[in-house]
Amino acid sequence: MNSLIPSILPFLSIFLLSFSWATSAHTHDDFLHCLYNKNSDSISKVIYTPINSSYPSVLQFSIRNLRFNTTATPKPLVIVTPVNVSQIQDVVICSKKHGLQIRVRSGGHDFEGLSYVSIVPFVLVDLINLRMINVDVENSNAWVEAGATLGEVYYRIAEKSKTLAFPAGVSPTVGVGGHFSGGGSGMILRKFGLAADHITDAVLVDVEGRIHDRKSMGEDLFWAIRGGGGNTFGIVVAWKLNLVPVPPIVTAFNVSRTLEQNATKLVHRWQFVSNKLHEDIFTRIFLRKVESSQRGKTTIQAAFTTLFIGEVDRLLSLMQESFPELGLVKEDCIEMSWIESVLYFAGFPSNTSLDALLDRTPISDVFFKIKSDYVKEPLPEIALEGIWERMDQLEVQISELQFTAYGGKMDEISESSLPFPHRAGIIYQIEYAVLWEEESSEASQRYISWIRRLLNYMTPYVSKNPRQVYVNYRDLDLGINKLDGNTSYKQASIWGRKYFKNNFDRLVRVKTAVDPANFFRHEQSIPPLSSW
Ligand SMILES: Cc1cc2nc3c(=O)[nH]c(=O)nc-3n(C[C@H](O)[C@H](O)[C@H](O)COP(=O)(O)OP(=O)(O)OC[C@H]3O[C@@H](n4cnc5c(N)ncnc54)[C@H](O)[C@@H]3O)c2cc1C
Ligand SMILES: *[C@@H]1O[C@H](CO)[C@@H](O)[C@H](O)[C@H]1NC(C)=O
Ligand SMILES: *[C@@H]1O[C@H](CO)[C@@H](O)[C@H](O)[C@H]1NC(C)=O
Ligand SMILES: *[C@@H]1O[C@H](CO)[C@@H](O)[C@H](O)[C@H]1NC(C)=O
Ligand SMILES: *[C@@H]1O[C@H](CO)[C@@H](O)[C@H](O)[C@H]1NC(C)=O
Ligand SMILES: *[C@@H]1O[C@H](CO)[C@@H](O)[C@H](O)[C@H]1NC(C)=O
Ligand SMILES: *[C@@H]1O[C@H](CO)[C@@H](O)[C@H](O)[C@H]1NC(C)=O
Ligand SMILES: *[C@@H]1O[C@H](CO)[C@@H](O)[C@H](O)[C@H]1NC(C)=O
Repeated sequence: MNSLIPSILPFLSIFLLSFSWATSAHTHDDFLHCLYNKNSDSISKVIYTPINSSYPSVLQFSIRNLRFNTTATPKPLVIVTPVNVSQIQDVVICSKKHGLQIRVRSGGHDFEGLSYVSIVPFVLVDLINLRMINVDVENSNAWVEAGATLGEVYYRIAEKSKTLAFPAGVSPTVGVGGHFSGGGSGMILRKFGLAADHITDAVLVDVEGRIHDRKSMGEDLFWAIRGGGGNTFGIVVAWKLNLVPVPPIVTAFNVSRTLEQNATKLVHRWQFVSNKLHEDIFTRIFLRKVESSQRGKTTIQAAFTTLFIGEVDRLLSLMQESFPELGLVKEDCIEMSWIESVLYFAGFPSNTSLDALLDRTPISDVFFKIKSDYVKEPLPEIALEGIWERMDQLEVQISELQFTAYGGKMDEISESSLPFPHRAGIIYQIEYAVLWEEESSEASQRYISWIRRLLNYMTPYVSKNPRQVYVNYRDLDLGINKLDGNTSYKQASIWGRKYFKNNFDRLVRVKTAVDPANFFRHEQSIPPLSSW
């Protein structure tokens, strides 16, 4: 069921030699005493141990992948839901003092559950209570606490302005704590780049429990936390964002074509135009296996999903010029405000109230495994057909691929500007997802091995040396650290270069400077040069 456990088992024995599980009960009491001593009684309102009746609901509330919602999933010894930064400082100081690891969770969307699962004794710091958002329209910026969701950020911006936006992800329930720590990409990526490209300041609690802003943390650490991955350099408490301007009216369309409607040729052609389109056009293809209009048959459906930052007439002429093969007509297009487009692309029915953006409970939860790739040369049609064959091996709607065009602003930002290196030369990103509802280890093995085989098949067609991967689409198949902290630079660089290319080396230097004993660590955190 829980794929994290088998993949880590070989390392468990190493860990057992250096620690004793028997001490964890003491450690945990000592940790709690430490917290109470520092914080008087008020802290007890935000501490949950398994004896508290609300412990399971607090833990489960932000679990987004049901693979990590089983009885076998390792649970935190203690959950703390701090209401202010001084409580975060105390948790860091007491965890460190008593040898407990920390996992910090904002939205809980980590694909491998790393924000709330660990095989070593740990404290979960859940930022659910730190969600303040302060939008300053006059200066086009905002301070956002790390526990806020994207939906809450978008809502608070729209409350004050119809012509300001922020270039972050599509799902409203994603947390800004993890999302911005890994880059953050969404529907206005081609015009504005990543969320992390628009962060101008941050508040961070470091390994000594000290509070920093951009000035006191220094430019190296400020660089590292904007894309180097979460739970590695400290706990981000808040971000300062530069908002971006959008017109009052934007245009969306979502045109689907099946194989019988020449989907293969269209997807093939799209690869040659999508990253060269005007940067006001964001384009993504969703690929699914669906029931065909012919009874009893199935087909592959390609949904060409687009957000255009402007009005319909200009979109039609740009599309006619660059991608006439799609046959886009005015009737396919819907004009709306930017905030309405947020609801539209999140999949809400039209006329849904904006309040839906504040709801932290997702429409549905499923079991899933997700992987990613970057494409630098268009795939031949025969390669696309090979993908369709593999999707055909599963039931309908179980697998979903997304091709997301890059180019535009992404081409202009240098590869080392932030830890996120996937910039010029990328035509598009592929996200592969397999999603299922059966809770059985047989099902999970079957689907996970399906997606691994698909990635093997893709090897000749995607980026190489390194094969580039998006860190926010975390995948432990790429390799993991030993959780005793004794991680070799060489082992970590295998997955590290896929996520960060040569920025990995600068991340290691920053980590070595700010957390040489590797206190903040997880299966894929950046290791310091000498962990011991
Ligand atoms: C349904 C869904 C939709 C998604 N859509 C998009 C999308 O459109 N675009 C995109 O780019 N990505 C998308 N993602 C991926 C998403 O960006 C990452 O999973 C992201 O890391 C989630 O952040 P979080 O705070 O919700 O997750 P969490 O699981 O809380 O955190 C993720 C990682 O960051 C660490 N972390 C969390 N908070 C902090 C903090 N305050 N300080 C330091 N470290 C922290 C955690 O320990 C963990 O390692 C999606 C994921 C899901 C499940
Ligand atoms: C959890 O239980 C302890 C011990 O009974 C109590 O002190 C604490 O307040 C409880 N936590 C919450 C959040 O209610
Ligand atoms: C997670 O597991 C618990 C306990 O088995 C269950 O009650 C809960 O419904 C599960 N969550 C989801 C979203 O299915
Ligand atoms: C943090 O919150 C607690 C609980 O409300 C309070 O007792 C404490 O004084 C606060 N600390 C600071 C520095 O605001
Ligand atoms: C598919 O393409 C062929 C030739 O390329 C064309 O004749 C046919 O009309 C197209 N079918 C559809 C449904 O667009
Ligand atoms: C786009 O269309 C496809 C196919 O009809 C559908 O599955 C998908 O949900 C649509 N996406 C949006 C954002 O409406
Ligand atoms: C949305 O609401 C407007 C105004 O209330 C109404 O005119 C329109 O028909 C509604 N559209 C849909 C699709 O329900
Ligand atoms: C760390 O690992 C290296 C090589 O893997 C080994 O030589 C060293 O003894 C280990 N150190 C500790 C403290 O376990």
